[in-house]
Amino acid sequence: MSAEYQVNGSVAVITLNNPPVNGLGLATRTAAVDGIRKALADDSVKAIVITGAGKAFSGGADIKEFNSPKALTEPTLHTLINVAEGSTKPVVAAIHSVCMGGGLELALGCNYRVAMPGAQIALPEVKLGLLPGAGGTQRLPRVLGLEMALNMIVSGTPVMSDKLAGTAMFSEVFAADANLVDAAVAFANKVADVRPLPRVRDRSVDYPNHEAFLQFSRNTVKAMAGPFPAPLECVETVAASVTKKFEDGLKFERERFLHLIQTPESKALRHAFFAERVASKIPDVPADTPVRAIKKAAIIGAGTMGGGIAMNFANAGIPVVLVETKQEALDKGLATIRKNYENTMKKGKLTPEKFEQRVGLISGTLSYDDIADADIVIEAVFEDMGVKETVFRKLDAVMKPGAILASNTSTLDLNKIAGFTSRPQDVIGTHFFSPANVMKLLEVVRGEKTGKDVLATTMALSKKLRKTGVVSGVCDGFIGNRMIEQYSRQAGFLLDEGCLPEQVDKAIEKFGFAMGPFRMGDLAGNDIGWAIRKRRYVESPQISYSKNADLLCEMGRFGQKTGGGWYDYKAGDRKAYPSQAVNEMIVKHSADLGVERRKISDQEIVERLVYSLVNEGAQILDEGIALRASDIDMIYLTGYGFPLFRGGPMFYADQVGLSNVLMAMEKYAAGLHGEAWTPAPLMTRLAAEGKGFNSQA
Ligand code: NAI
Repeated sequence: MSAEYQVNGSVAVITLNNPPVNGLGLATRTAAVDGIRKALADDSVKAIVITGAGKAFSGGADIKEFNSPKALTEPTLHTLINVAEGSTKPVVAAIHSVCMGGGLELALGCNYRVAMPGAQIALPEVKLGLLPGAGGTQRLPRVLGLEMALNMIVSGTPVMSDKLAGTAMFSEVFAADANLVDAAVAFANKVADVRPLPRVRDRSVDYPNHEAFLQFSRNTVKAMAGPFPAPLECVETVAASVTKKFEDGLKFERERFLHLIQTPESKALRHAFFAERVASKIPDVPADTPVRAIKKAAIIGAGTMGGGIAMNFANAGIPVVLVETKQEALDKGLATIRKNYENTMKKGKLTPEKFEQRVGLISGTLSYDDIADADIVIEAVFEDMGVKETVFRKLDAVMKPGAILASNTSTLDLNKIAGFTSRPQDVIGTHFFSPANVMKLLEVVRGEKTGKDVLATTMALSKKLRKTGVVSGVCDGFIGNRMIEQYSRQAGFLLDEGCLPEQVDKAIEKFGFAMGPFRMGDLAGNDIGWAIRKRRYVESPQISYSKNADLLCEMGRFGQKTGGGWYDYKAGDRKAYPSQAVNEMIVKHSADLGVERRKISDQEIVERLVYSLVNEGAQILDEGIALRASDIDMIYLTGYGFPLFRGGPMFYADQVGLSNVLMAMEKYAAGLHGEAWTPAPLMTRLAAEGKGFNSQA
């Protein structure tokens, strides 16, 4: 059922019913319109109440209808609002819990709005790169005034209904213990005979000297919006509520909405929105797979990652025990955690009570016996198979049956690690990103034998820890690091061929990356990549790398932590200054290779860095390591600073067109380091069919 119809005395009650949040899909809209018409045709009905069943009044458009012709099928949301607003009997919106987007636009089309306290009122369209397209930009200022409406529409942030009591938004905000429908029906009876019917569209927006305010808003919003066009468009359409007649304002809103929906930025935001939702769905693991309870956690290794991971559990209210081999290392790890929380408290982002609570949930031990009863244990010791083997054999011996044994390894073979235990079905990879208490991404690595319930439990846990969990199969580097390896190789080759670090960083930062590869290397420590390459020189001698990064490390320039890396750093200052010594080293290395350095365009830099990610991503997808292209995008958006407004590498490649990407790759294949540009077969296949990664299904 999509909306229920009931008559209560002389009041018709229409209850939107489309779980989970009464999205205004076609069936719900149809039932609501039918309900209003039925009430109008019934002489015994004097007024109409519209409310929502379950957890919301209405969360707005039905996301299942996004990008579907159903959204444009009659009755559209506009029609529903027009029917409500055109009613000859008073229509009362009875609001509770959530009233957002199209839901709020519908409520604004009603003659009256009444609400329970604590309901979230919002027009969040801007978060998807859009603006409210069903009258919201014209009606909200008419009830809340220009300033407040503009703030709500530009930010998309919810405001509690009780904060809006006393404005023209609500005729009444009831007491917390009221029965909403009863109270709304009583209100409807009270106003049943009041004529003329009040309509939001008939109100005016008065704001003395509005031009000055609007100009100030344009300036501030422009400075904050970055590459996104929607916030400024929101200002312009809200401005129209003052400067234009209602109908003209609506027309203008429609025109700007249709413009925004076509922009690459809005497409990217909508892609990311869906990508995040779909990432938790695993085709062969049904949504109702039973999950194991996680009430106590343990972490092995209180180093950089172990400490950050422990904080995630404490933040989610789950007690966690850290295990170390030496008291000194344990004390150091616990002290670092305490200091991190203290810093957050100093910034005013954590109350002293919460500080005590969180620190109180974290304890330390040198004995595995103390963690035997933990529901999950995450290993975060040195990245060395021998050390991991010792740890996992020990865990297998001590942990209670049914405990999940997880590894935070970033490169090692999870199947081999699982093989050190007698319970490979309980072993899984949880690849956190540094700093683990901050970064959103959690790559969940599914081993050959990982149990479905273990996977389901870990994905559910990632939500509880407020992470974006994305599933990866087992391969060297998993999804994210395997791709970044190709990107780093290209960055190195660019130095060999004619670039200097700052040119590469600037070009990719202008494209939108948070940080270029060389500044990133200096931040994370260039010695990490050095260690990985040394292993690869032995294991995979066929893979070519620029020697520049090794030469840099041989100079002891590991990055910020050694006071110099690709750049020079001054004490107490993270700013990167171009280094004459490094730049001379790079130029000399080209000469040693016999390479004549050439001028390289920013376009070439960006294409080589981004397309190297795309090509490896395609290979990963083809091998089934990633479940879907959008999972790869999620990993890059949440873990690697890929610009959100470009939607992730695979989505970006789709926008450029895979045949165009391939054409550029062919050009680079003919260049100095052509060996890195063998196209992934999936990409060639899709390009030939005129498809993209995200439209292959
Ligand atoms: P780290 O060197 O900061 O910490 C490792 C800790 O493990 C040390 O405190 C050490 O005393 C302890 N440890 C060593 N053997 C132990 C044992 N047998 N029992 C108990 N504790 C033991 O290393 P980090 O950076 O925290 O890395 C840990 C793991 O996380 C590695 O597998 C690494 O590849 C992975 N990782 C690291 C990331 C990073 O950015 N640092 C990012 C993602 C994963």
